[in-house]
Amino acid sequence: QQSLRTLGLRHDLYIGTAVDMAALADTADPLYRATVSKEFSTVTAENVMKWESLEPTRGTYNWGPADELIAFAKRNNQRVRGHVLVWQNQLPAWLTTGVNDGTISTTELRDILRNHIATVVKHFKGKIWQWDVVNEAVSDPWDTPSTLHYKGFWAEHLGPGYIADAFRWARAADPNALLFYNDYNIEAFGSGNPADDKTQFVFDMAKALLRDRVPIDGIGSQGHLGTQYGNYDTLQVAAALKRFAGLGLATAFTEVDVRSQMTAGVLAGDSNEINPRLQASAGNYSVLLRACLADRHCLSFTVWGFTDKHSWVPTWFTDPPEGLATIYDENYQPKRAYQEMKADLIYS
Ligand code: G3I
Repeated sequence: QQSLRTLGLRHDLYIGTAVDMAALADTADPLYRATVSKEFSTVTAENVMKWESLEPTRGTYNWGPADELIAFAKRNNQRVRGHVLVWQNQLPAWLTTGVNDGTISTTELRDILRNHIATVVKHFKGKIWQWDVVNEAVSDPWDTPSTLHYKGFWAEHLGPGYIADAFRWARAADPNALLFYNDYNIEAFGSGNPADDKTQFVFDMAKALLRDRVPIDGIGSQGHLGTQYGNYDTLQVAAALKRFAGLGLATAFTEVDVRSQMTAGVLAGDSNEINPRLQASAGNYSVLLRACLADRHCLSFTVWGFTDKHSWVPTWFTDPPEGLATIYDENYQPKRAYQEMKADLIYS
């Protein structure tokens, strides 16, 4: 049985997964660890490289879990995507509290950010293939105001210039890592409806960064999809990738999963309700993977967890409940999405 990683490398495509370090360490759950090493050629830390994990107390870094992942990847001949240097979520409380109560000034905040990027990127220097330097900096149409804008903690306190700064600081600390901007809802372009707008916004941002000689190498398209939103269009996904490539940037799918609503029928095990969802989920995985396979600038295809046993979806989407988002079920049985990915890798 060939693995996803072997089949992917025939196309020079790295197939990856986010890794939950607690699951990886759990000796009662050996299939988790075995599957990560067997099926994937690149790994991303689901949580342990985020700021709150790395520096829970100011000035005291906790490298242990992240270093474990790096060591695991080395043993298994896997590349590592670094996730994430600058994001408004999962920041340590000392930082957000300090800013909110005024004990950390704007000038100090900028120094703290520069220091964080330098410290983290240097710690992992030479071990990270792609860094997600800035994550989810752009608003969505459902935010207020609905006009797309730079959102979140960093833009509010430092202004959007922090994005260029972050890339420059990251490059200085490890000149050989590929530096990515990473976001969701930028998977497609060309529908002619507002779904295009965020892709366009990120395209304009990247173009302006390149014009200003900011060292950005790639765009990470997360790929958190849901079957309730219908099927993505292959041509529109290819068009989004192609536009970024046209700027000279690499691309990657960085967090793919395709969730479904867990209706009463699904929860009761009714195959008439489950099977169409599994099929639609597989179809959307396939649309993203095929677009990536068809574009030589698309370097990797990473799923955000590979088993429904360890997926962020059911804990995050509870009303209505959602799930079934990954390529293996809770018992590590491959689902249609896995088979579909394999077929795409074999026949593309
Ligand atoms: O670490 C604590 C643990 O001590 C505590 O017992 C437990 C109880 O709830 O919570 C643990 O923290 C959780 C953490 O995951 C680690 O499991 C947080 O509550 C939970 O909010 C956190 O969720 C993560 C989420 O990012 C938070 O922002 C998900 O696992 C992770 O999959 C998700 O990943 C993000 C990407 O980084 C960026 N793109 C979107 C993607 C999905 O939201």
